[in-house]
This record gives sequence, C-alpha cells and structure tokens, in this order.
Amino acid sequence: MQQKRLRVVVLASGRGSNFAALLAAQQRGELPIDIRALLSDKATAPALDIARDAGIDAIALRPRDHADRAAFDQALFARVVDFHPDLVVLAGYMRVIDAAVVDAWRGRMINIHPSLLPQYPGLHTHQRALDANDVMHGASVHFVTAELDGGPVIAQAQLPILAGDNADSLAARLLPLEHRLLIVTVKLLAQGKIALQGNRVACDDQILAAPLLLDESGSLKQR
Ligand code: GRF
Repeated sequence: MQQKRLRVVVLASGRGSNFAALLAAQQRGELPIDIRALLSDKATAPALDIARDAGIDAIALRPRDHADRAAFDQALFARVVDFHPDLVVLAGYMRVIDAAVVDAWRGRMINIHPSLLPQYPGLHTHQRALDANDVMHGASVHFVTAELDGGPVIAQAQLPILAGDNADSLAARLLPLEHRLLIVTVKLLAQGKIALQGNRVACDDQILAAPLLLDESGSLKQR
C-alpha cells in the first residue's frame, strides 16, 4: 500500500536553502511529503523564486499592510490553511509568530534553528557560540511554541568549532548539516514516528530523554 504523503507548507524569509534541500529530497523520492506552498513575509525572498521555478505556489504577504502582528499572522495562516497542511515548516522564517496562531498549530509546526538549543535562541548564534569559547556548535529542529526558539527539540546536528573559525566559516560548515537534519527529521514526522506529547517529544511512542542526534552517516539516532 502506498504511504500517504504528508502535506507540507514552508515559511521562509530569505535565501531558502533549507526549503530547497527539502524540495530536492522530495523530488528525489526520498521523502513521503508533498510541499504545497512556500509563503514569505518578504516579497523579494529568493525562496519564493525557488518555489516558482519548481511550480509550487509562492505567496508573499507584507507585514506593513496589516494593523499589527496578530492581524498579519492571522492573514498569513489563513493562506496556509488554504493548502491543508499536515505540517508547517519554518525554514529561515525570521518573524516571531503571534502566540494564538502558534497555539493553533501546536505539534504541527517545526522550526530549524542554527544552535544547540536551549543554547542561543534568537539571532547571531554562530558569533555567540564563538564568543562563549564553545567547543561544539550545531543546529536544532524543534516544535514551535509561543516561546521564541523554545519549543521541545526533536533532533540536533553537532559540529566542532575549529581554531580560526569565524561566524561565516561556522555558518558555512553548519549549513549542509542543517539541510540533512531537516530532511531526516521531516522524514520521521512523515512516517508518523515523532509526536509532541505534552511538552515532550515522543519517538515511536517513547518519550525522548534527549533530542535525536544526526550521526556521521546522516541518520538520526537516540543518545
Ligand atoms: C538557517 O541557518 C536557519 O537555521 C535559520 O536561518 C537560516 C536560513 O537559511 N533559521 P536558508 O534561508 O534556509 O538558506
């Protein structure tokens, strides 16, 4: 029997390399997902072009056309609902989302963030890891809650910080790991293996003691 494909809507504000990686994995037949649309808060976001080139609906809404954050987010997610997604993926979506909207999507919306959460929510994560003399850096995929970058973490990818690293070199080395992390995490979600239970992440109905970890072979493992 053919597996039901997970309907996915992606939100992105910029370059869209995580979106592109997800799309390429779908196109290679590696993911039982159907990316329905790409929505953005920036009309000039290159992510929109990636979607258009692939024949995927690409929609931009301007925050300044709306009275306030809540009004913008309600309008944006009204468009999201049009595509009946099972999952919303925030992939470089740079706006905080109104709490009422976030709550409505609890357990059905994930974000990729370039740090080993709970360290460094928010911006400038690479520089903050360097400034703290951390030995390890990484990326996290988490369920979205009203707390910025604060929702339960599903999976992480780690990489060592090298002598001579700066924020740009660290970001460049991390990016391919982010792409892989997002793909394999979405795959587990599409397979129905991951769920939010209360404030914790369950994998195959077992609460995870710690986020899954991307291993050298590019697979997620428990630790
Ligand atoms: C990525 O580092 C992602 O983790 C962060 O923003 C960046 C977006 O990159 N949230 P891209 O637009 O996917 O290329």
